[in-house]
Amino acid sequence: MLWKLVAAVAAIAAGVDAGAMLRFSCSQLVVERLDPLVNPGIMPSPHLHQVVGGNAFNVTMDRTSLDIPSTATCTSCTPTEDFSNYWTATLFFRARNGTFKAVKTKGNPLGYGVASGGQTVYYLGPQGNAKVTAFKPGFRMTVGDPNFRTAAQLKKYPMLTYTCLQTATTRGGETTNFPKDTCKEGIMVNIRFPTCWDGVNLDSPDHQSHTAYPVSGKCPSTHPVTVPQVFYETVWDTAPFNDKSQWPADGSQPFVWSFGDKTGYGIHGDYVFGWKGDSLQRALDSNSQCNSDLFGNNLRCPALKAQSIEQANKCTKKVSVKENLEGWLAELPGGMMVN
Ligand SMILES: *[C@@H]1O[C@H](CO)[C@@H](O)[C@H](O)[C@H]1NC(C)=O
Ligand SMILES: *[C@@H]1O[C@H](CO)[C@@H](O)[C@H](O)[C@H]1NC(C)=O
Repeated sequence: MLWKLVAAVAAIAAGVDAGAMLRFSCSQLVVERLDPLVNPGIMPSPHLHQVVGGNAFNVTMDRTSLDIPSTATCTSCTPTEDFSNYWTATLFFRARNGTFKAVKTKGNPLGYGVASGGQTVYYLGPQGNAKVTAFKPGFRMTVGDPNFRTAAQLKKYPMLTYTCLQTATTRGGETTNFPKDTCKEGIMVNIRFPTCWDGVNLDSPDHQSHTAYPVSGKCPSTHPVTVPQVFYETVWDTAPFNDKSQWPADGSQPFVWSFGDKTGYGIHGDYVFGWKGDSLQRALDSNSQCNSDLFGNNLRCPALKAQSIEQANKCTKKVSVKENLEGWLAELPGGMMVN
């Protein structure tokens, strides 16, 4: 994304309209086995998640009855009107002796180093003045498929990737499988959601078919409404696990997702919209105004109210499903098998 950020900053300087762009930090809210979108009411959910955003996150988040912005009392994101929840699976290191250790997230080294883990969130509009429509209350979606284990399967989702960070600014060289070698600064997981919506349904049985990818740069007639591209960058602190004498003897890489995937192709993400009032639309309409926060701690966006990352760090949620994640584990939480 660095190229786009640099391009956006350069475009502002030149007075050119680069399209809407928000980029902000969301600290870790909670790590637990809950998934109110895919497994509502199920406690614990099959696999472990790392969750950021508003503290209304719960075992059920009913689309029709839950008013997220008025239920949440804090958010771990820097825009204080954003009570959305953003979550992904979690990563584990599997040592040569077969035991597992939880990998932690860390604040994005590109400007958000003081964040207590979590992820960077982007909302990207199309270039130029094209209208981009904010999501509506009750909107939610997923992208990716935890059952996928091959590159051919993952082609269904064009923009779910891994960046092997040798330095904080490593960009490019994204892969759709786990990096095969050590990554000095960690592994950045990039999850980009589709940008077209059917304009009617806030959710769908598979949590995906109400959204679609553009075709030749245009939203298809079945999904005509251009929505912002929700994009997660999660930096996993894999550096403590770079001793190759502990990597598998066959030379394969040692990381596995909490749902047992050692290939990386099962990469997926979940999103539940929870912005207050028209705040997201306001920010999108202000166009390039929120692009300038490349290296700063605070979100500088005149259209939005913001808190510092230090304040955002204070918004956490008590786990509702206790899980032993300390030390070396004989198996993945929930007994997930590695395959
Ligand atoms: C979570 O849901 C339960 C009932 O399902 C409710 O009692 C509790 O207050 C909720 N917690 C939050 C933080 O909304
Ligand atoms: C497994 O390997 C790890 C990493 O070297 C080590 O710390 C741990 O003690 C080992 N556990 C067992 C049961 O051998």
